Amino acid sequence: MVAFNNHIYPPGPDIPVELDAGDDTIDQITKLFRQFGNIYKVYSERRKSYTYVINDPEMIKHVLITNNRNYTKGVGIDRVKILLGNGIMGSEGEYWKKQRRMVQPAFHRKVTERLSRSIVTANQKMAAEWGVMAKQGEAINLTAELSRLTLNIVLQSLFSTDLNLIEKQHRMHPFMLLTEEHARDLNFALKFRSLASEIRNIMQRRAQDGRTEDDFLSMLMTARDPETGEGMSDKEIIDELLTLIVAGHETTASALNWAWYLLATHPQVYQQMKLEIQALNGMPPGFGQLQQLGFVKQVIDETMRMYPPGWLLTRKSITDDQIGRYHVPAKTDIFISPFLMHRHPDYWENPEQFMPDRFSYPQKDRGRFEYFPFGGGPRQCIGDYFAQVEMQLHLAIITQKYDLQVVVPEQITMEARINLRNPNPLYTFLSLRK
Ligand code: HEM
Repeated sequence: MVAFNNHIYPPGPDIPVELDAGDDTIDQITKLFRQFGNIYKVYSERRKSYTYVINDPEMIKHVLITNNRNYTKGVGIDRVKILLGNGIMGSEGEYWKKQRRMVQPAFHRKVTERLSRSIVTANQKMAAEWGVMAKQGEAINLTAELSRLTLNIVLQSLFSTDLNLIEKQHRMHPFMLLTEEHARDLNFALKFRSLASEIRNIMQRRAQDGRTEDDFLSMLMTARDPETGEGMSDKEIIDELLTLIVAGHETTASALNWAWYLLATHPQVYQQMKLEIQALNGMPPGFGQLQQLGFVKQVIDETMRMYPPGWLLTRKSITDDQIGRYHVPAKTDIFISPFLMHRHPDYWENPEQFMPDRFSYPQKDRGRFEYFPFGGGPRQCIGDYFAQVEMQLHLAIITQKYDLQVVVPEQITMEARINLRNPNPLYTFLSLRK
């Protein structure tokens, strides 16, 4: 604790530390947490400013909910904006509020229930393709397949029948660059933004034909702001769609990748999940079966506890504030890490162990910001329910059909950029379940 000008400041190292929301950051913030505890500050020479790293549920609630109006998005958001323009991930203030209001209905539970049919179809199609590869004894690049699957699911939800048209026009559909290129640099952003013209063509075709479909694109094209009655411009729709493509596919793909890794390294858990799916007695998993797939949900919850794809939330204070006892000057960067909180020894027993039973019913009374893989407050993930349904159905459909023998790497590494992912692909062999 440091007092100055009658203000109390959090403790922290005496020397500057560069926290870049990049690969080293998890190691750095974990070490500093062990040294300084639930809130500490570090000075960045490069940014010429302080960052507070907060690992306390009440303080996190203050930033994300109680006084959220005093915080904008923080470090790293400029990179997101180059990629996603003014979509809801990076926009702020009244504009963000209006856009979020317009996009929100597309994520209503009833809509997700309807769209779950295309989640099932995409998984069945992939499972059939795997069957052919497995017969030839080929190892399957599971990481690449999950990326392809989740991208297809989000594109189906966005463009439904028009996706087939795009696929017919190009030998391979142009959005595949998202699964094929891993750098998220300026060069990628330029290529990615050029997909806007593809979306513009679909919108023009629909407008000319007066055609609406049961998908996100039609929902956004017909959305009206309940307060003003106004619709969105083409540019606004395109920015929101590009946002949903990126936000919706990489996160889900990396969570599923971690889930398969953890199942492969915990055969008893995998066995317990198989037994739950076997109890469906051959009924193909769909939206109606989700209630019977409680253990599958626990596996997903525990996976995202250990490896939350959204491992870091960054904010910046607008004016002076106070968090707990500590003064926060304007323009202070704030780091809130679900990764750190999800392994905080005060809230989790054996935090380094994969134990889906900790999420079993009845759930332990858990504070709101002890577990928050989808963030919280007004900027909470808009696709949280969609993602949960998607992940539960994927694990159930594949497990009902196949036993996966994932080739487990000797050591698993974490790449912490926009998402927390495993940079080396996982491969798997398959056998049909009897
Ligand atoms: C496992 C899957 C997912 C995880 C872990 C995840 C995680 C998150 C997190 C932590 C945030 C909050 C970021 C912050 O507060 O700074 C967020 C925001 C967001 N997510 Fe997700 N997400 C997932 C899936 C999805 C899906 C499927 C979609 C859409 C199809 C989506 C769309 C968005 C959008 C648009 C935002 C910005 C919301 C706003 O600022 O108003 N996400 N996500």
